[in-house]
Amino acid sequence: MEIEAIAGNIIEVKAGAILIGLFEDTEHLEGDIAAVDQALGGAISEMLKQREIKGKFKELSLVHSLGKLPSTRVAIVGLGKRQELSPDRMRQAIAEACRLLRLKGTDNIATTIFRLGDTNPEDTVQAVVEGVLLGLYSFRRHMTTPAEYGEISRFLIVGGESELATMEQSIWKGKVIAEATNRGRDMVNEPANIMTPTRVAQESAELAKTYRLELEVLEEKEMQELGMGALLGVNQGSHQPPRFIVLKYQGLNTDEVDLALVGKGVTFDSGGISLKPQEKMEEMKGDMSGAAAVIAAMSALAQLKPKLNIIALAPCTENLPGGGAVKPGDVLKAMNGKTIEIINTDAEGRLILADALSYAIKLGAKKIVDVATLTGACHIALGDGCSGAFTNNQELLNKVISAGKEAGEFIWQLPLYEEIKEQLKSDIADMKNVGSRYGGAISAAQFLAEYVDDIPWVHLDIAGTFVSEKDRGYLVKGATGVMVRTLVNLTLSLTKN
Ligand code: BES
Ligand code: ZN
Ligand code: ZN
Repeated sequence: MEIEAIAGNIIEVKAGAILIGLFEDTEHLEGDIAAVDQALGGAISEMLKQREIKGKFKELSLVHSLGKLPSTRVAIVGLGKRQELSPDRMRQAIAEACRLLRLKGTDNIATTIFRLGDTNPEDTVQAVVEGVLLGLYSFRRHMTTPAEYGEISRFLIVGGESELATMEQSIWKGKVIAEATNRGRDMVNEPANIMTPTRVAQESAELAKTYRLELEVLEEKEMQELGMGALLGVNQGSHQPPRFIVLKYQGLNTDEVDLALVGKGVTFDSGGISLKPQEKMEEMKGDMSGAAAVIAAMSALAQLKPKLNIIALAPCTENLPGGGAVKPGDVLKAMNGKTIEIINTDAEGRLILADALSYAIKLGAKKIVDVATLTGACHIALGDGCSGAFTNNQELLNKVISAGKEAGEFIWQLPLYEEIKEQLKSDIADMKNVGSRYGGAISAAQFLAEYVDDIPWVHLDIAGTFVSEKDRGYLVKGATGVMVRTLVNLTLSLTKN
């Protein structure tokens, strides 16, 4: 889709639909909406008077122009209370409006909506672009029949001549970030028979080539040499070989690794010998959402070029119960030399992350953020609108939380505490891989904490947020691409001081 900034007057633009915003409790129409209303002979003010439209957040109405405007239709989207309008609410409203217009057969839209509200127009233009691209996302690669709706091929953002350059810059940034998010979504939506560890490595190679990132892919033999016994242990029950992906972005001319982004890449989690129940097991193709998030975020960062050195690490494997599979009671040795007694083979994420976190430290990471669909317990604790977070460094987590807020990705901190450590004591090894059923998200995080030494670290548990059950704002049923935008915002914020 083409998204373009043009200079002009919205009532003179010829589009399939012009999209305008209306605040709740509006008494008198002003600005562009007043001009459109006047051109339509007062149709909008009449609807307002009849209480047919109220401007409630995400309320959608369509009016035909019947030749009174060059554009065929006018779509009015409710923006809710003026003082509550944020870039994220704008993103959501735009996404829903675009989906409705697509369903109604519109193929091109023009808007000046970014002018509304009190946030700065640059952020708002970026939010509009993200709303359009994220909201219209669909995954139809495996459908052999056409969709019920067509495609919106053009989206025009209409502004003043002097604003064009900044608008174009914001459009570019919004596009980079939204396209990276959709790339992450694609990887997660792709079924596990296609998105194998090898395929994740291939996707990373394509991105590395397109965006000039450095790429290293460790295969089994190298993992053995490095002593990644935990990751290799998880892989034992699968026919697909494991891959450990390392993408490097160099924003500074130094050898330092300012930030490591680590993502869980279990391309299918059956639970292994501790087999999962069948209900919703198909969702476990998305157990590589952490890996997809860090890889996709790197593709955006490579374009946004922050002045930092960043690496993304994605340990990838399936977790299947083949004849060679790791069994409850087995002992594995992680890369940092610590031994782990396996109690439940379904607690595999923390095993592969143990090796990945150790490797991040070996590579000299000064800060680490990991993203993982780690525990059903986190989903139960926080629901599906909020990711869980843990840290050994409050300052870093505070930055992650604000980066999330900016992205509209809600993150809530859960505690790490000493007593939970006790639960991970094993009779025959340094640690067990599971603690009590209660506080399961915390014991999983506590397990990871053993592998990061004193390096500032944040763990994000996205088990509740990696997929959406329905279309909601700019989320589309299926993979959400959660944390791609948060990680990008975080990285950009780290360069500011
Ligand atoms: N991948 C799952 C966690 C998960 C569950 C993510 C549902 C998304 C949706 C993880 O590997 C797992 O199975 N965790 C176990 C841990 C338990 C065995 C201690 C869980 O949460 O039940
Ligand atoms: Zn599992
Ligand atoms: Zn898992």
